[in-house]
Amino acid sequence: MIQGFFVFCTSIKCIMSESFFEKEENVKQYLEMTADYDGLWFYEQFKKHIPPSYKALELGMGPGKDLDNIRQSYHVVGSDFSFTFAELYKRQHPEVKIMVLDAVTIKTPKRFNCIYSNKVLHHLTAKDLSASIQRQAQVLEKDGLIFHTFWKGTGEENYEGMLFNYYEIEALKELFDASFEIVHIDTYQEFKEDDSILLVARKK
Ligand SMILES: C[S@@+](CC[C@H](N)C(=O)[O-])C[C@H]1O[C@@H](n2cnc3c(N)ncnc32)[C@H](O)[C@@H]1O
Repeated sequence: MIQGFFVFCTSIKCIMSESFFEKEENVKQYLEMTADYDGLWFYEQFKKHIPPSYKALELGMGPGKDLDNIRQSYHVVGSDFSFTFAELYKRQHPEVKIMVLDAVTIKTPKRFNCIYSNKVLHHLTAKDLSASIQRQAQVLEKDGLIFHTFWKGTGEENYEGMLFNYYEIEALKELFDASFEIVHIDTYQEFKEDDSILLVARKK
């Protein structure tokens, strides 16, 4: 998924902004580049950690591959800050609730038992990630869980304007500690051994 996304972004000099993904041709090209991603590992982990009764919100759903898996067994609402991604998915799946939401501000009066994302929050600046974490705690019900993946490493990179912030396990623990109790945090392999981190945490 991400490899295709890198190639896509570096080859056409994408700017990771709402306006870039408002263009339907860019979204369609992204869909083609990530067509072989099945999201099954993410789905298996989700089922392992999130109770089936939990109502979930996805941040940064993109083409909705993870959403398609998760909605087989959960009541889930999809969201992205790109209206085009949201609209494209909605057109194909009118029965699924989709919202246009920025992962930083999550402007919704609705409350959820789980908020999840798959390789989205690394696009936020450190300041925006802190704001997002605080907001996620507000949007969650009591005992609510978060389920997020990150790229493992240190520092940040900028691919033609698109931010990639890398985190080590200890750094993530520190960031989430004020509002969340870590339930599970471990590395996994997306492309290379230990290149990614899965974090599951409960609202304090
Ligand atoms: C790697 S894709 C996610 C793919 C998705 N998990 C799937 O199942 O196909 C990253 C997504 O994050 C979204 N995104 C990036 N920054 C965001 C933000 N601040 N708020 C909401 N969505 C954001 C992008 O529009 C893009 O759709």
